[in-house]
Amino acid sequence: MTLRLDYGNMLAPRLGGRGIEPRRLQRFAAEFRRAYDEVGERRARGEMGFFDLPHARETVSEIRRFADGLGQAFENVVVLGIGGSALGTGALSQALLGAHWNELSDERRDYYPRLYVLENIDPTSIGPFLDRIDLGRTLFNVVSKSGTTAETMAQYLIVAERVRRELGLEAGPRHFLFTTDPESGALRQLANEEGIPTLSVPPNVGGRFSVLSPVGLLPAALAGIDIEAVLAGAAGLADRCVTPELLENPAGLTASLLYLAEREHRANINVFMPYSDRLRALAAWYCQLWAESLGKRLDASGQEVHVGPTPVAAVGATDQHSQFQLYMEGPFDKVVTLLAVRDPGCDVEIPPLYEGIPALAYLGGHSLGELLSAERRATAEALRREGRFNMTIEIAGHTPHALGELIMFYQIATVYAGALYHVDPLDQPGVELGKRLTYGLLGRQGYEAPEIADGDPRWIV
Ligand code: PA5
Repeated sequence: MTLRLDYGNMLAPRLGGRGIEPRRLQRFAAEFRRAYDEVGERRARGEMGFFDLPHARETVSEIRRFADGLGQAFENVVVLGIGGSALGTGALSQALLGAHWNELSDERRDYYPRLYVLENIDPTSIGPFLDRIDLGRTLFNVVSKSGTTAETMAQYLIVAERVRRELGLEAGPRHFLFTTDPESGALRQLANEEGIPTLSVPPNVGGRFSVLSPVGLLPAALAGIDIEAVLAGAAGLADRCVTPELLENPAGLTASLLYLAEREHRANINVFMPYSDRLRALAAWYCQLWAESLGKRLDASGQEVHVGPTPVAAVGATDQHSQFQLYMEGPFDKVVTLLAVRDPGCDVEIPPLYEGIPALAYLGGHSLGELLSAERRATAEALRREGRFNMTIEIAGHTPHALGELIMFYQIATVYAGALYHVDPLDQPGVELGKRLTYGLLGRQGYEAPEIADGDPRWIV
């Protein structure tokens, strides 16, 4: 069974008239066809390389060679990277290895390494982490497409100095592996000069669309994940989206419904709520993909439009006790996408104790999986009864195939949504200014120290 989508609770007849009219959706098919064609043209021009990653056989063989040669030789694999160079790895590994992989014994991990993704540059995380890890048994995978990102370069400099100090000047090529642009950037230069092994990020695959490239697949393979199955799931889902028929194209339909809800019903907040702890990191990955791709000042013709839905990550059932009051009774500005896992892979029975206490007795004899599933279905129904947009995506399990499907599903939905909004989902011009100001503040050559408008602060102390 593959990924499926229930969008009934987006439609007016189910939402007491508040939702999208089925006739409107039918009429929208022509608009979707335009978006579909635009994506097809960009793909044909070679601009959307992520579509082709599931078929990159040579890359997979190369990853396999590295992984088979290195994986079980190290106790730890540490990914240094940020944004699109880290979030996908976190999503894949948490979903497929489980949140507690690093706490398992070597035997329980089948001697595959622990996998850490450092991502941030918070000294209170990085300092203590490096102090406690055994560098001699660690492989550092430095991941940066540009090979220049300040956070990742800072992480690398710190680790490189420690490796030299503790393991010797010659240790670099044994303990580092770079994933970067095939030609440009500081990492590529260092790799060439110091003989550090590298894998390439295809030039036509942007950071947040790169999880199915060596960026996400190498760490996954090192930790024993079946990357061929991930890619097979992604390929199958992409095949299902090779149709301009709106109602037959799952990613197209999702993008169109979210677009219509935002443009015509002011539902500009997209909550993504997997009912699975293992998919928490995937929700963070989704937020970056959706936000950085769709939040844009200019449209394709250069007009100021300032568009983009706001993604929010939630997790069921936890956030029913946190964010849910707002979603039920606050402004009608949200679409909640509930994510169901049909077969989570394990379950825990709830024992039938205290039969005389009704508040406990009804739980006995059920399982946590049943309770979680009942809460998700009840949540969808409660939202519907309040006239609140919601949809449910269901995946088969926490399996490599299902994760491949889900990742490709959202990547394709994102580029369709970009075409519907008439923006470029592949760029991120809005993050450049902050980067340039940071360079100036730290004295990077060629960047002036900026005037920061904090001359008249309003601190309350
Ligand atoms: O999606 C993106 O393009 C960004 O989030 C990048 O992945 C992030 O800025 C890191 O860039 P790089 O891989 O060049 O270090």
